[in-house]
Amino acid sequence: MPTKPKTILEVESIPRVDIDFMNNTHFEEIEKVKELGKLVSAYQAKDTHTDAETAEITRALKNWLAHTIPHFERENQLMQETGFPAYPVHSNEHDIALNKMKNIIQAWEQNQDIELLADYVFSLWPSWFNDHVNTMDMMTAKFAVMNGFDPHTSK
Ligand SMILES: [Fe+2]
Ligand SMILES: [Fe+2]
Repeated sequence: MPTKPKTILEVESIPRVDIDFMNNTHFEEIEKVKELGKLVSAYQAKDTHTDAETAEITRALKNWLAHTIPHFERENQLMQETGFPAYPVHSNEHDIALNKMKNIIQAWEQNQDIELLADYVFSLWPSWFNDHVNTMDMMTAKFAVMNGFDPHTSK
C-alpha cells in the first residue's frame, strides 16, 4: 500500500503572529510533532512492533498533550486579559482541538492503529494548526497588541 503524503510543519514556514510568547509556543509544538512524526514513520515502516516502540509513541503523544493544554490556556487568558471580542469562537476551537487530540490518544492506547494516528499527525493536525494560527491566533495577537499588550512578553 503506498503511503499517503505527509505534511510536516516547519518552524520556518509557520505563520508568525504579533506576540513573541505565542510564536515561541508554536515553535515548541512543531518540534514536538516532528519528533512524534519520526516515531510514527518508523513504526509504519515495520510489520511487527515491540511494546517499547508502542510505549514510546504513547509517551510522545502525552508529552504533546501536556504542551497543548497550557498553550491553549495561555491564549485563552490573553484573550480575557485584553477583552478580545471573538473569545468564545477562539476558545471553542481550542476545546474542539483538545478533545480531538484526547480522543486520538485514547484510540491509540486501545487499538494501536498506526494509520489512524498517522492521518492525524501528518494531515488533520497540520492543516488545523496552520489554519488556526493564521486566523484565530493572528487576530488575537493583533488585537492584544493594538490594545496595549507588550508584543515581547515572553510568557
Ligand atoms: Fe496558538
Ligand atoms: Fe489559539
